[in-house]
Amino acid sequence: MMNRSHCYCFYGIITIYFSLLFHTLASPLLYLCRNDQKDALLEFKDEFRIDESNLISWNKSSDCCLWEGITCDDKSGQVISLDLYDTSLNSSLKTNSSLFRLQYLRHLSLNSCNLQGEIPSSLGNLSRLTLLDLSYNRLVGEIPASIGNLNQLRNLSLWGNSLIGEIPFSIGNLTHLLELELQGNHLVGEVPASIGNLKELRVMMVGYNSLTGKIPISFANLTKLSSFSINSNNFTSSSTFPSDMSGFHNLEYFFASDNSLLGPFPKSLFSIPSLQRVDLEGNQFTGPIEFPNISSSSKLQDISLARNKFDGPIPESISKFLNLIKLDLGYNNFSGPIPRYMSKLVHLNWLYLRGNHFTGTIPRSISKLANLEYVDFSNNNLEGEIPSFLWRLAGLTLSHNFFTSFGNPLQETLIQQLDLNSNSLQGPFPYWICKLKGLSLLDLSNNLFNGSIPTCLRNLTDSLTDMILGNNSFSGTLPDIFANATLLRSFDVSRNKLEGKFPKSLMNCKALEFVNVEGNRIKDKFPSWLGSLPSLHVLSLRSNEFYGPLYHPSMPIGFQSLRVIDISNNDFNGTLPPHYFSNWRELTTLTEENYQYMENLVNYSSVYQSMEMVNKGVDMSFERIQQDFTAIDFSGNRIHGKISESIGFLKELRLLNFSGNLFTSNIPLSLANLTKLEALDLSRNKLSGQIPQDLGKLSFLSYMNFSHNLLQGPVPRGTQFQRQKCSSFSDNPRLYGLEDICGKNHVLNPIPQQREEEEQIFNWVAAGIAYGPGVICGLVIGYIFTSHNQEWFTEKFGRKKLRVATRAR
Ligand SMILES: *[C@@H]1O[C@H](CO)[C@@H](O)[C@H](O)[C@H]1NC(C)=O
Ligand SMILES: *[C@@H]1O[C@H](CO)[C@@H](O)[C@H](O)[C@H]1NC(C)=O
Ligand SMILES: *[C@@H]1O[C@H](CO)[C@@H](O)[C@H](O)[C@H]1NC(C)=O
Ligand SMILES: *[C@@H]1O[C@H](CO)[C@@H](O)[C@H](O)[C@H]1NC(C)=O
Ligand SMILES: *[C@@H]1O[C@H](CO)[C@@H](O)[C@H](O)[C@H]1NC(C)=O
Ligand SMILES: *[C@@H]1O[C@H](CO)[C@@H](O)[C@H](O)[C@H]1NC(C)=O
Ligand SMILES: *[C@@H]1O[C@H](CO)[C@@H](O)[C@H](O)[C@H]1NC(C)=O
Ligand SMILES: *[C@@H]1O[C@H](CO)[C@@H](O)[C@H](O)[C@H]1NC(C)=O
Ligand SMILES: *[C@@H]1O[C@H](CO)[C@@H](O)[C@H](O)[C@H]1NC(C)=O
Ligand SMILES: *[C@@H]1O[C@H](CO)[C@@H](O)[C@H](O)[C@H]1NC(C)=O
Ligand SMILES: *[C@@H]1O[C@H](CO)[C@@H](O)[C@H](O)[C@H]1NC(C)=O
Ligand SMILES: *[C@@H]1O[C@H](CO)[C@@H](O)[C@H](O)[C@H]1NC(C)=O
Repeated sequence: MMNRSHCYCFYGIITIYFSLLFHTLASPLLYLCRNDQKDALLEFKDEFRIDESNLISWNKSSDCCLWEGITCDDKSGQVISLDLYDTSLNSSLKTNSSLFRLQYLRHLSLNSCNLQGEIPSSLGNLSRLTLLDLSYNRLVGEIPASIGNLNQLRNLSLWGNSLIGEIPFSIGNLTHLLELELQGNHLVGEVPASIGNLKELRVMMVGYNSLTGKIPISFANLTKLSSFSINSNNFTSSSTFPSDMSGFHNLEYFFASDNSLLGPFPKSLFSIPSLQRVDLEGNQFTGPIEFPNISSSSKLQDISLARNKFDGPIPESISKFLNLIKLDLGYNNFSGPIPRYMSKLVHLNWLYLRGNHFTGTIPRSISKLANLEYVDFSNNNLEGEIPSFLWRLAGLTLSHNFFTSFGNPLQETLIQQLDLNSNSLQGPFPYWICKLKGLSLLDLSNNLFNGSIPTCLRNLTDSLTDMILGNNSFSGTLPDIFANATLLRSFDVSRNKLEGKFPKSLMNCKALEFVNVEGNRIKDKFPSWLGSLPSLHVLSLRSNEFYGPLYHPSMPIGFQSLRVIDISNNDFNGTLPPHYFSNWRELTTLTEENYQYMENLVNYSSVYQSMEMVNKGVDMSFERIQQDFTAIDFSGNRIHGKISESIGFLKELRLLNFSGNLFTSNIPLSLANLTKLEALDLSRNKLSGQIPQDLGKLSFLSYMNFSHNLLQGPVPRGTQFQRQKCSSFSDNPRLYGLEDICGKNHVLNPIPQQREEEEQIFNWVAAGIAYGPGVICGLVIGYIFTSHNQEWFTEKFGRKKLRVATRAR
């Protein structure tokens, strides 16, 4: 065996050697390029704005068949392939481009060439093309109908552009087509029935467009398909699925997520023996599911039915998919117990049953699933004990159920993510958690735990990224154990009964993004050193017993990445010097990177629903706020002096609450610089002077409160002011111009305020913060969850396509 492979290897080297030799000696003879084609190529090059460092080999005095990106026919010397992958052309392809003089072209690839403008219809003249790849450019306009002239085409790739209009009917002319990739554009309308002519088609990818209607009946003709993706469109009918799909012998991937497909469970799809992955997530399917009677050799590895309206139990027929690796039934209306026969799916690695109505306990038989790594049973009605074999998983999410206790943990655990948020777990902190070496996410929030937070958690600080213990009854002091927690991103112990000092060792946690200790009895000075944490986005010290100044000349001030700070309802005093906010860079200009970060937070979390709930009664659009939610809430302290002028630098600020302090002097004029401000509360201070007239120009300012101050003079005329309630100005005896707001006969007497109403409005700062950690967990879990699907993209198409897929999401 050894000898033989050596022999092959030797032979291989000799062959390569000779062919190199031959190539060097003989190529000028064989490959000499024709002058008309060389001229056409050079003219083509001149049509674009090509960087000088690119295509240097395109030199008039050399053989064009040796130029980079060019292949000539061995015999005739005709240019048959032009492949300029990733060369920036930075212009559009002209109708009369000299490219179209290269009549012998078979391959044309201008993938990732920064190509702009429309696809010229003269492209249809290159009738010998077998491959046309214009993917990942900035092409606009419609796909020209003349594409139907290219009847030799086998591969047509136009993905990742901004093409509009419908898929041309003439596509049906391309009867030799093997691969059609139009995903990630803005195509509309129905897929033309002529698609049924493409009987050779293997790969059809039209995802991430705005296609509508049905997949035509003629789709049933495409029996050679192996990959089919219509993800993220608006297909409405389930007639995508012919009742007999037995003709599809080669179909491996069927992706139809995020459409509006309706009807009962498309059972026939699951009878295709070659099928490996099915994604029907995010549609409107209804009713129970039942899998067809298939032979036991099903290749299915991945089924996602998530985010539909399926109901009923998980049928026993599922246990035939013996090769299943991932099963996602999340966010449907499935009910009944988690069936014991799930244990037959011995290859299962991911099991997601979240967001259904499953009841009962977790069956012991699940412990037979030796390959199981990620389990998400959150948001069901499960109860009882959390069985101990689950500690051996890598990710366990059981949040929002009714679990009451733990089984004895195993010695060896691999768990990295443990989310037990919102159950009925009680008693002291489960000490064995300190033994879960490698734990990165720990969420025990919203349970009934009591007693102290143990110092043994120090054992986990090497690996912890998220420590979320909020809304329990933990008491005692917060242990100061974070000296080594360099990966910690979120820290939430809010709404417990903790007292003592704020842990100083958090100073070492350079990765911290989120800190919430709201609603405890922590008694300490302002931890101004938090300002040195480079990534801190959210800080809440709300409702504790913090005291003393927010500013001291010896303190560093900064908070360069802060987007939300809530230190309300404490005992802070002192003044804010004029420059106080001048180094709060993130609130001055949101960085793109962080913006992306926030966007991800929104995309991957349940924050949507939660926010909707909070939104009731508050007249603001949360969809908008979530993306770039920014807020400063210093209310309910004893801060005095003038409001710092530097507040005017924080141009990204949407919510500002300084109410219930001892601020004096004028409202700074610079407030009028905060053009994104949506809510402003300066009530219950000792502010004097006039309300700056320019505040009337802040067009997003929909809530404001100036009541209970010493303000005087005219109320600004802006429409936003005119929309306020009269009470927003009450108890400022010398304000005038309120007739339109308060009615003619109003008296601005101190009206006993409905504090509740005011607080309700500002509660959403707290709400925003409170959902934060969940958001971050969501990110982690979301990543795990999506990465599995994406893996397929990456495998098949490499990183660039992945980027398109996510961009279009
Ligand atoms: C083109 O190639 C010739 C010979 O290969 C060389 O002498 C000449 O400098 C090259 N011209 C440019 C512009 O690179
Ligand atoms: C494309 O061309 C424009 C105009 O000449 C230039 O401003 C821009 O920098 C170029 N972009 C690239 C990526 O070369
Ligand atoms: C193409 O047409 C434009 C005008 O539409 C003209 O300026 C240009 O010279 C033409 N180019 C070629 C290669 O014929
Ligand atoms: C290319 O096709 C267009 C129509 O698509 C036609 O008007 C034009 O004459 C053709 N040019 C050549 C050189 O064949
Ligand atoms: C379809 O192909 C035929 C030749 O095979 C051609 O004559 C016809 O114009 C093409 N139709 C379209 C719409 O491109
Ligand atoms: C063309 O499509 C076929 C079928 O999907 C595929 O095997 C082949 O790799 C593709 N060719 C190129 C150059 O992308
Ligand atoms: C499907 O294929 C059959 C024959 O193979 C053909 O007659 C029919 O027109 C095709 N259907 C569609 C809608 O293209
Ligand atoms: C999808 O189509 C339905 C019915 O055709 C329409 O009501 C809905 O607005 C569309 N949705 C999107 C996102 O285009
Ligand atoms: C924490 O780690 C130390 C040293 O590695 C060990 O002695 C101790 O038992 C651990 N504590 C817990 C509760 O696992
Ligand atoms: C931090 O980790 C180092 C090495 O792992 C260890 O020696 C040190 O005691 C730890 N410090 C704290 C405060 O846990
Ligand atoms: C702030 O409050 C503390 C008591 O918490 C008090 O000792 C101190 O004098 C106050 N400082 C100012 C500037 O009011
Ligand atoms: C407010 O904006 C004006 C004009 O853009 C600028 O001159 C002023 O410095 C700004 N003030 C603050 C505090 O940002």
